[in-house]
Amino acid sequence: MSKVYLYGASGHGKVIADIVRANGLEVAAFVDDNESINELCSYPVLHGAMDVSPLIISIGSNRIRKKLALELKGEFITAIHPSAILSPSATIGEGSVVMQGAVIQADASIGKHVIVNTSASIDHDCLIANYCHLSPHSTLCGNVSVGEGSWICAGATVIQGISIGKGCTIAAGAVVTKDVPDGALVAGVPAKIKKTNS
Ligand SMILES: CC(C)(COP(=O)(O)OP(=O)(O)OC[C@H]1O[C@@H](n2cnc3c(N)ncnc32)[C@H](O)[C@@H]1OP(=O)(O)O)[C@@H](O)C(=O)NCCC(=O)NCCS
Repeated sequence: MSKVYLYGASGHGKVIADIVRANGLEVAAFVDDNESINELCSYPVLHGAMDVSPLIISIGSNRIRKKLALELKGEFITAIHPSAILSPSATIGEGSVVMQGAVIQADASIGKHVIVNTSASIDHDCLIANYCHLSPHSTLCGNVSVGEGSWICAGATVIQGISIGKGCTIAAGAVVTKDVPDGALVAGVPAKIKKTNS
């Protein structure tokens, strides 16, 4: 396998294209519903192509990434930048991406279609469920669990042993010192619940 399709022609897709190339693979094309975009980074943008393979969903929205992951039929692959540092005992699910400078420590488990963004740090024994996004410079200390579809925004820190529910948003710069219930948006230092979706 040498050519990879990227589903989502966006800035996030550009970063994944760099990672694909850094692994010695080629980008075959982007795929996007937006018919006004026909080229990105000199690659063609295909419209309505549902059966491309192998592919990575290059869309930042956790909700849309999940929807597409359940609809698309192709083989999902992972993209891990060579500058990322991964413990040999860490596991990464299909469709997930690990960006430049990220660190994933021993026995951490990363689900499917997860984004581990630039310089995110995931310490030992963390459990990250499917469709999460760990934004640039977010820090999870050891033994943190993060439920499906949650978003840890840029620069947020979660102290050791904390459990974050499904569909949560941890605002940029927050320091999370207590468990977070499903659907909550928390912000600040220490983080407090600002609103809840569920
Ligand atoms: C959390 C965030 C996504 C906003 O979500 P939202 O649902 O639109 O939330 P709102 O703007 O309605 O804010 C809700 C409350 O949280 C507060 N809040 C939001 N973000 C905050 C932050 N980073 N720090 C402190 N308070 C914050 C708001 O002031 C508001 O407080 P109030 O109700 O007392 O007025 C956004 O503020 C944020 O942190 N973005 C970072 C994005 C990021 O990391 N991008 C990287 C992509 S790779």
